[in-house]
Amino acid sequence: MSKPRVFVMSTLPEAVEARLSLDYDPVLNTDDHLVDPKTLGSLAAGCEAIIVSPADVINAEAINAMPDSVRMVPTFSVGFNHVDLDAAKARGFVVTNTPDVLTDATADTAMLCLLGATKRVYEGMTMLRAGEWTGWKPTQLMGVGMTGKRLGIFGMGRIGRAMADRARAFGVEIHYFDTYTMSEADAKGAIRHDSPEDLLTVSDMLSLHCPLTPETTKFLDDRRIAMMPDGAVVVNTARGPVIDDDALIRALKSGKIAAAGLDVFDGEPNVNAGYFDCPNAFVLPHLGSATLETRNAMGFRVLDNMDAFFAGKEPPHRVI
Ligand code: DGY
Repeated sequence: MSKPRVFVMSTLPEAVEARLSLDYDPVLNTDDHLVDPKTLGSLAAGCEAIIVSPADVINAEAINAMPDSVRMVPTFSVGFNHVDLDAAKARGFVVTNTPDVLTDATADTAMLCLLGATKRVYEGMTMLRAGEWTGWKPTQLMGVGMTGKRLGIFGMGRIGRAMADRARAFGVEIHYFDTYTMSEADAKGAIRHDSPEDLLTVSDMLSLHCPLTPETTKFLDDRRIAMMPDGAVVVNTARGPVIDDDALIRALKSGKIAAAGLDVFDGEPNVNAGYFDCPNAFVLPHLGSATLETRNAMGFRVLDNMDAFFAGKEPPHRVI
């Protein structure tokens, strides 16, 4: 029996491509260039699946450009906001994702962003590397202490809860908003707020862990930033468009927000240049899940979904 032909939009970790090649006939992206999804009609001719990732804009145009042979679009990510699910559904595609396996790595990155922002890491490293460090001084680069402060978690799903676990070890009080109320055992003492706005008023530090939806797009805007305590810290490892960049940049410049740790951006890989004028912005290039272990696990989850689908079974992580 011939192996299903699969188009792979981005280079995948070595172990993942090795397993892929055992059971499938892959068309690999060997130089990892950004494929224009509009060209998929010819590039993916004869392919039954197209493996995509968050860097690919799989909108209706891209979906409709896919050849008739395509039956499945697995994404190498837990987030699937980059895939137009209505368009995929209209074409009868199965879409799968890779939940769970990136929870710890992403929560680690959220903690890194919180530490990077509160400890003024960017400013310290820049000063050191520029040869401008003149020695220890009692008032040098004083950051924001975390112990005893309140961390607001917007979106208490898997990654939000893992972030809460990490922050507890730093003596931080956990507050959260989610549309559901957790059991007391799961909440581990975290205090639930009835509205996002209520959460913001107590968030000395705020970490965003919500999915990107029409409701969360530009959630953190001028109005909501004004509700936060003066000198608060903002962390985003969810999706860039959850923040109104111009509003946050204004707040970073005015000092209303003392510092921000950001791993994701609206319009990635383009970043609002205003952040580069803010020494109090600790910014990373969407490294959330970027460990070898995690990326392998994500890739294997893609393959588990494909294996089930092509065996005529229900994929374990089906989105639609
Ligand atoms: C995802 O899987 O959605 C993450 O953003 C990748 O790091």
